[in-house]
Order: sequence, then structure tokens, then C-alpha cells
Amino acid sequence: GDPEPVQDFCVAAPLGVEGKVSLAFPGLPCKPASTVVSDDFFFAAQARAASTDNPNGAGVTPGNVEAFPGLNTLGLSLNRVDLAPGGVNPLHTHPRSAELVHVEAGEMLVGFVSTDGKFYSKVVQEGESFVIPRGMMHFQYNVGAGAARAMTVFNSQLPGVVLAAQSVFGAQPEIPDAVLAKSFQVDAEIIKLLKSKFRKG
Ligand code: GLV
Ligand code: MN
Repeated sequence: GDPEPVQDFCVAAPLGVEGKVSLAFPGLPCKPASTVVSDDFFFAAQARAASTDNPNGAGVTPGNVEAFPGLNTLGLSLNRVDLAPGGVNPLHTHPRSAELVHVEAGEMLVGFVSTDGKFYSKVVQEGESFVIPRGMMHFQYNVGAGAARAMTVFNSQLPGVVLAAQSVFGAQPEIPDAVLAKSFQVDAEIIKLLKSKFRKG
């Protein structure tokens, strides 16, 4: 999890034209307390479903500190995950956080792999939860007949996400085909095919 807060709150100041301010700790700079209002502690973007009209059939609406500045220094955040029937929130890890998956509608297979290679999974129904330890590779897969929805809760204001396929096959500049062919024990042709699917733009 994140460091302990050292004050009541530290609503993140708007980011400058230079882009993201980056401080080692504790996250983003605070705006002056005298300018903080109730709306700084409110976040409405997750009241609506994200589009699932994409190859994965999945839509994630992030509620990390970048979307919801009031979370700065509070050590938590949450995402909304919408899955079309058969949709998958694809394999990924969060380097800075555990994740609690709370299913609000439908049913999904939720699973992760531990460092010793064991796969843990459960079909999780409406109202039920499953927890993914920090850093473990995981997914959610809609195994129900209708749409499915979960809120995922993190003990970090900015859990970070490493998408397995995207980071391996879509990295820019490219990881050499020879490295990937050896790593996955397949021909370079297969690597080129996978790269073509995950290359951006
Ligand atoms: C789901 O795994 C999420 O990261 O929101
Ligand atoms: Mn996740």
C-alpha cells in the first residue's frame, strides 16, 4: 500500500501545461486548503458504464488519483469494470496494489497466478468479492448470459497497470523478435503476428 498520510487531506493541484508533475513522495502536490471544496471529494464518472465495444468486450473506468484528485495521499482508489457477455478484462498486474474485486452485476470468473505458478480462481456472483494480492497477474472474464459489472478497490491511489500482452508485444521501441521468440519458445512469425495485434497506431 501507499505511505501513511501526514495531514487530513491533500487534494491534488491541477496539473500544469507541462503535463504530469512527478514527485517521489507523497504523490502529487496539494492545492491550498483554503481553495478545497466538497466537490474535490466527489467523483461521478463511475455512475455510467464504459463502452465494451472493443475486441476484449471490456471497459474500465479508472478512479485513481489522476481521475479523482481528492484521493491524493489517502492510499486508496477504485475502478469500474464493465464486461459484455464473454468479455475479458485481459491479463495484467498492478505493481503498487492489491485489488479487491466486488461484483455488482452478473457473474465473472476472476483469477490470478501466484509467484509459484499456481492459478487461483472463482466464479464470483453479484454481491460477492475476490481479492487479488499485490503484483499478481490476473483477469476478469464474464461467464454469465448478460452484462457484468464490478468495482475494483485498491490500497493505492495509483496502483499502476502492466498489461501482459500490450507490454510484451506492443512496447515502443519494440522488444527484438529474437528475444520474444526465445522467451515464448515459438517462431518469429508468431511473434510478428502478435506484435501486429498490439502495435499502437
Ligand atoms: C481489474 O482488474 C482492474 O484492475 O480494475
Ligand atoms: Mn486489476
